[in-house]
Amino acid sequence: MALQLPAWWKIDPTAPFELGPRRLPGRIWTASGCFAYGLTGHDFAAPGFASPYEGLGAVVTKTVTPAPRAGNPMPRLAETACGAINSIGLENVGFDRFCDEVLPELERRGVPTVASLAATRPAEFGTMAARLHRVAGGFAHWHGVEVNLSCPNVAEGGHDFGRDPATVAECVAAARAELPDRALLAKLTPNITDITELSGAAINAGADAVSAINTVLGLEVDLTTGQPVLPRRFGGYSGPAVLPIALAKVDEIVQKTGGKVVGVGGIATATDALKFFALGAVAVQVGTAQMRDPFAAARIARELRPG
Ligand SMILES: Cc1cc2nc3c(=O)[nH]c(=O)nc-3n(C[C@H](O)[C@H](O)[C@H](O)COP(=O)(O)O)c2cc1C
Repeated sequence: MALQLPAWWKIDPTAPFELGPRRLPGRIWTASGCFAYGLTGHDFAAPGFASPYEGLGAVVTKTVTPAPRAGNPMPRLAETACGAINSIGLENVGFDRFCDEVLPELERRGVPTVASLAATRPAEFGTMAARLHRVAGGFAHWHGVEVNLSCPNVAEGGHDFGRDPATVAECVAAARAELPDRALLAKLTPNITDITELSGAAINAGADAVSAINTVLGLEVDLTTGQPVLPRRFGGYSGPAVLPIALAKVDEIVQKTGGKVVGVGGIATATDALKFFALGAVAVQVGTAQMRDPFAAARIARELRPG
């Protein structure tokens, strides 16, 4: 049965909108790490849909780092009653292959793309952004960069980038300086006391919006062994259970800083997405739900079209 849209909802999420210097094709995106590099979409079929990209504003690609990474030992995913805990360890093909193969192929296929980047030193965000600008500055479908700040900062003794407002500002400023005409987002961790300090730092340093939230610190225990399921013990918790946490973080950011927010966390249905828009999010990302159903975001985009 079609969703009865609330009277206040007037936006067509499949219509273009401005985000910083860029016009993005829509407000429903897929979240980083949950739809690979966005190249497999045409392998999937669902009745009534030409592809999972239908109506999407962006595919946020799996985070890439300056060098390829093999990721953490298996197992990397623990399913729980209301979500999943992952410890992938940022397995990725590396920035060179991303620039040489992945991004040009996404452009060829017309997939709207936001590139997710991580680095181990703030200055590397600038180097990577500059190369993207050189390689893809003429691309029609590459719309921006999402700076993933959940990596350890090697230069600062291994602390997470994303927990320190000054470092967040440094990373964002480095990328902004090289991205004059693309949207720049900073993806924030919820695993801190005050997310508004981080969002304020990112916006003041030149981010056009923050993406909130990344995964919540979690742990699952295997009772047969009495040990944590994941070899690294902790992982990132995602899925339906984190929706209220993400809504609370988005609300804090909007209310206290007025900064633009892309809402992410626990969205599986159009109703979930509407809750973020009600709080003032300018766009939303669908993560874990996209792994279960590659058409989840496309379905949400279709359901939220008024009229
Ligand atoms: C398997 C998996 C891999 C992920 N990889 C990344 C990643 O590479 N970069 C990133 O910024 N977020 C990554 N995330 C976090 C998601 O983008 C999203 O912020 C989080 O899962 C909350 O949204 P959800 O509840 O809709 O999944 C990953 C999440 C999952 C479940």
